[in-house]
Amino acid sequence: MSRRILVTSALPYVNGAIHLGHLLEHIQTDIWVRFQRMRGHQVIYVCADDTHGTATMLMAESRGIDAETLIEQIREEHERDFRGFLIGHDNYYSTHSDENREYAELIFTRLSDAGLIFTEEVKQLYDPERSMFLADRFVRGTCPNCGSPDQPGDNCDVCSATYDAMALGSPRSTLSGATPEVRASEHYFFDLPKYTDFLKSWLASGTVQPEVANKLGEWFEDGLKPWDISRDAPYFGFLIPGTTNKYFYVWMDAPIGYMASFRNYADRHNEVSFDDYWLPGRDTEVHHFIGKDIINFHALFWPSVLDASGFRTPTRLHVHGFITVDGTRMSKSRGTFINAATYLKFMEPEYLRYYYATKLSGSVDDMDINLDDFVARVNSDLVGKVVNIASRCAGFISKQFDGVLAAALDDETLWQTFTGSAEQIAAWYEADETGRAVREITRLADLANQYIAASAPWQLIKEPDQRDRVQAVCSMGLNLFRLLVIYLKPILPKMASEAETFLNVEPLSWADLDAPLLDHTIHPFKPLFARLERETVDRLIEASRETPAGASASPAATGADSRANASSADPDHISIDDFARVELKVARIVDASPVEGADKLLELRLDLGNGEERTVFSGIKSAYDAPSLIGQLTVVVANLAPRKMRFGVSEGMVLAAGEGGSEIFLIRPDSGAEPGMTVR
Ligand code: MSP
Ligand code: ZN
Repeated sequence: MSRRILVTSALPYVNGAIHLGHLLEHIQTDIWVRFQRMRGHQVIYVCADDTHGTATMLMAESRGIDAETLIEQIREEHERDFRGFLIGHDNYYSTHSDENREYAELIFTRLSDAGLIFTEEVKQLYDPERSMFLADRFVRGTCPNCGSPDQPGDNCDVCSATYDAMALGSPRSTLSGATPEVRASEHYFFDLPKYTDFLKSWLASGTVQPEVANKLGEWFEDGLKPWDISRDAPYFGFLIPGTTNKYFYVWMDAPIGYMASFRNYADRHNEVSFDDYWLPGRDTEVHHFIGKDIINFHALFWPSVLDASGFRTPTRLHVHGFITVDGTRMSKSRGTFINAATYLKFMEPEYLRYYYATKLSGSVDDMDINLDDFVARVNSDLVGKVVNIASRCAGFISKQFDGVLAAALDDETLWQTFTGSAEQIAAWYEADETGRAVREITRLADLANQYIAASAPWQLIKEPDQRDRVQAVCSMGLNLFRLLVIYLKPILPKMASEAETFLNVEPLSWADLDAPLLDHTIHPFKPLFARLERETVDRLIEASRETPAGASASPAATGADSRANASSADPDHISIDDFARVELKVARIVDASPVEGADKLLELRLDLGNGEERTVFSGIKSAYDAPSLIGQLTVVVANLAPRKMRFGVSEGMVLAAGEGGSEIFLIRPDSGAEPGMTVR
C-alpha cells in the first residue's frame, strides 16, 4: 500500500554557509526520500532557512543591509548549495514568512487558551550602550570557579565549569565592551512539566532510536522545566500577540517553519491537503531528520506544543551524530571545515553522497570522514567495482552486436542471488542503515566482477565460434549492473540517470528489479565516474584552510600555485623530485574506438594491471586505425588528474612521439612487459 509521507531536514541557520555537517543531514534525508519514492510511496520533502534571532540582526547590521535582504541572499546561496549536492527538496522556504507568522500566532493562542502559557520575571544581563539584553554568548568575564579572566558567558574554556553569565566577575558585553547591568523583564513560558506523562508515552511508542530515548530519560529524572519562549526587543522575529516588545524565541517558531513550508507547498499543489498531514488521526506520516544537538527541541518541546495546539505529533525522529574529519572536529585552521560551495569546485557531489551512505548506521554516533578512506571507497568500490562492470561489458555489446543484448540470462542463479537481496536492502534503507545496504551492494558487485573475470569475454572474442558466449556474458554483466544501479539510485541519482540513458530505459524504480533486459538495444557507454585523486582532496583542504574568502580560489589557480612551489628555481630543468612525481605505467589497450564527433580522438580502454581499467582519450586517430591497437602495450601517465572532456572523462595520457598527422608513434614497450609495471 502506498504511504503518504512528509519528510523534513532541520532548518539551517541563516547566519552561515552550508557545510559538511548540514550535508550529512540533507544527504541522509534525500537518500531516504528517494528510496521511499522508488518503492512507490508519495513523499513530500520540505525544508527552510531558520532566520530569526539576535545573530541575524547583528549580521545584517554589520553588512549594512536590512535583515530581510540578508535572508533572501542567504536563502539563494543555501538553495544553490543543496541543488549542487542533488538534494531534492520539494520546497525550500523561510521561517520569516506569512505562513509561519500565522501558525506561530495560532499555536501560541491555542496554548494560551489551554492555560499552558504563564509569565514570570527573569533577571538577565543588559547592555546599557546597545540597549539590549545579552544572551550568554555575548558576555565574557572572569570564571567564578577558577578565576581565569576573559571566559565565555556560559562555560569556562580553562576549567570547563558551567555557570550563569551573571556569576562572571568583571563581565563585559562583547557587542559594545560596556559593563552589563542586571535587569529584570517579563518572559513568557510554556508549561512543559504538564506534558511529562504525554511525552513519556510518546517516546515509548518507537518514535526515536533507543539511545535517544535513554538520553531523554535523564531529562525526565531531573524533572522537566518550563520553557522560556520569549525574548525582549530588539530582536529579529515575530511579535508575540498582545505585546509590543516581546518576540517569540527563535526556537519557538523554527519547528513551526516545517508546517509553514509545507503550507506554502500545499497552497501551490491542489492535490495536497495541509490538514491530511497535520491534523491528528489521518493516514499520513511525518518524519524529521535532525542532529543529536537538537534532540530536546524535537523530542520534548515540539511534540508537546503540537499536541497542545490540536496538531498531530511526528511519526519518527531520525537522529544522526556529528561529522568529524580525520578523527577531529571540523576545523577552519586545519582546513577541514569544508563548505558545500568549496567542495563543488573540486569534485563530484556523488563522491560525498556515496561516502556518507557507507557511513550511515541509524545510530547517533559521530561519523568520521577519513580522507584516505574516502578516496579509497570512491575508487575501489564505486569506480573499480560498480562502474567497472558496465565498462567491461558495454564495448563488446555495442561494437560486436549492434548494441543488442542477448535474449536470455546466462546465469539464472546469479540473477536470483542479486534480486534475492532486495527486501533486505530495502529494510536497511528504511531503518537508516544505509551503510549495511551499501556493503551488500558492493558484495554483489564483487560477484558480478568475478563472473565476468571467470568468463573472460576479451579472450572469447578471439575465437569465432564463441561469439554467442561473448554476447551472453556481457548481457548478463549489464543486467547485473542494472540491478546495482537500482539499488544505488537513492544514493547516486545522477549516475543512475546516466546509466538509464546508457541502458536505454525509463527511470528505474524498485519494481524494475523483477524483469531483466533481454533482446534490448542499449546506447554506447560513457564513463560514469572518474577516479578521485588524493591530490584533489588535498587541494580542497588547502582551499578550505584559509579564511572563507580563500574558498573562492579556483581549482585551476590553486593547482598552478602548488606547481609553482614544487618546481625548482632553474627554469630549464626539472628536479629529480619533480620527475618522480610523474607516475608512468605500462598499460594494455583492451579496446579502442573512434569518438563520434571528434576528428582526432580515439577512445582507449586501458588495462593497468591488477584489474584496474581506465578510459583515456588520445589524439592519435590520424596515425592509427583503432582495431589495430587492441591488445598492444603502451605507456600511460597514470597520475594525471582526470579531465572532463566533451565526450567523457579522460583518466590519464598515453605517450607518443611525432609531429602529428600520420607522423605519430605510440610508445610501445618490448614484449615481456606487463600491464601495471612502473616505467622509470
Ligand atoms: N536552526 C536550527 C535547527 C532548527 S530545526 C526546526 C539548527 N541549525 S544548524 O544550522 O545549526 O544545524 C542544522 C542541522 O545540521 C542540525 O540538525 C545539526 O545537528 C546539523 N549539523 C550541524 N553541524 C553538524 C555537524 N558537524 N555534523 C552533523 N550534523 C551537524 O540547529
Ligand atoms: Zn574556570
